[in-house]
Amino acid sequence: MPTLKEILRNIVPEQYIDLVPSSFDLIGSKAGQVAILALDERLTDYELEIAKAIQKIHKNVKAVVKRSESRKGEFRLYDYRLILGNDTEVLHKEYGYYLKLDPLKVYFSPRDAEDRIDIAKSTKPLERILYLFSGIAPYAVAIAKINHAISKIVCIEKNEVAHKYAVENVRLNKLEDKIVCINADVKDVIHEYLNFADRVLMTLPIGAWEYLELALAALKKEGGIVHFYHIGHEENLFEDALKIIKNVCEANSYSYQILKQKVVSDYSPRKYKVRIDFFSKRLK
Ligand SMILES: C[S@@+](CC[C@H](N)C(=O)[O-])C[C@H]1O[C@@H](n2cnc3c(N)ncnc32)[C@H](O)[C@@H]1O
Repeated sequence: MPTLKEILRNIVPEQYIDLVPSSFDLIGSKAGQVAILALDERLTDYELEIAKAIQKIHKNVKAVVKRSESRKGEFRLYDYRLILGNDTEVLHKEYGYYLKLDPLKVYFSPRDAEDRIDIAKSTKPLERILYLFSGIAPYAVAIAKINHAISKIVCIEKNEVAHKYAVENVRLNKLEDKIVCINADVKDVIHEYLNFADRVLMTLPIGAWEYLELALAALKKEGGIVHFYHIGHEENLFEDALKIIKNVCEANSYSYQILKQKVVSDYSPRKYKVRIDFFSKRLK
C-alpha cells in the first residue's frame, strides 16, 4: 500500500509535500472510522485531495476532520472542520471493548488506550473507584472489563454529551452493575464520596491539581491510590506534578508514597501528558 505522501506526490506541490502528515488519529472500527489530523495552513488548497487519499489507504474512513493544534475549554475539545463526510459518530474498538462517541463533541484519545490497560491491570478485586473527569468513561469500561471482581466505579463528568455516551458505553459493554455515571461538576458532588474510594482517577492534565485536596478526602480512611495527571516539560517531566502532590498532601496532613511515574502521550512540542500514581493516607 502506498503512503499518503506517495499518493499525493503529483497533487501537492513539491515544496509542500513534506508538510503532509505521516500520522493522524483514526477513531472507530470496521463499521466506520473518523480520521482526525492537524494540517499546515499551506495545505489548505489540497485538503480535499488529502482526505480522499486517506480514504484510499483506510477503507473504513467515513469522515475526515481537520483539527486545531491544541484542545480548548473546560470540555477539552479541539476546534474542528469537516473536510470529507458528515457522519462523525463512531463505535471505537479497543482491547475487546467498544466505546461509542462523536470525537467532535467529546474528548477522546485513542493514544490513551495503553494507559487505560496499565491502570486496569493495577486494580485489585473489590475496589471502589472514583473516576473524576470521566468523559465517555473509557477508563471505567477498561477497568471493569479486565477486573471482573471490581466492586464499583463512580464516574463524574460535566459535559452532558460525554455523559450520555458514558451511560451508553456502560450499557454496550454490559457493565451496569459495576459502573455508575454522574453528569455534574466534580466540585459539586465529590463531597458525597468522602471516605469512599480505594482509588481515584484524575484524568484532567490541565487543572486536576485544583481538585487534588478534594480527591484526597474521597479516599478511604485506610488510604488509597491517586492517579494524578499533569502536563510536564521535557526538561523536568515530573517535577511540577511532584511538587503539587507534596504541597497539597503536606498542607492537608496526608502521607504520600510515589508508586509510579509515567509519560502517557505527547502533548505539544517539548511537553508531555504525564501520570503519577501515589498512595496517600490521612495522618490525623
Ligand atoms: C481530558 S478529558 C478526559 C476524559 C476521559 N477521562 C478520557 O480519558 O477520555 C477531561 C474531561 O473532564 C471534563 N471536565 C472538565 N472539568 C470538569 C469538572 N469540573 N467536573 C466534571 N468534569 C469536568 C471534560 O468535559 C472532559 O470530558
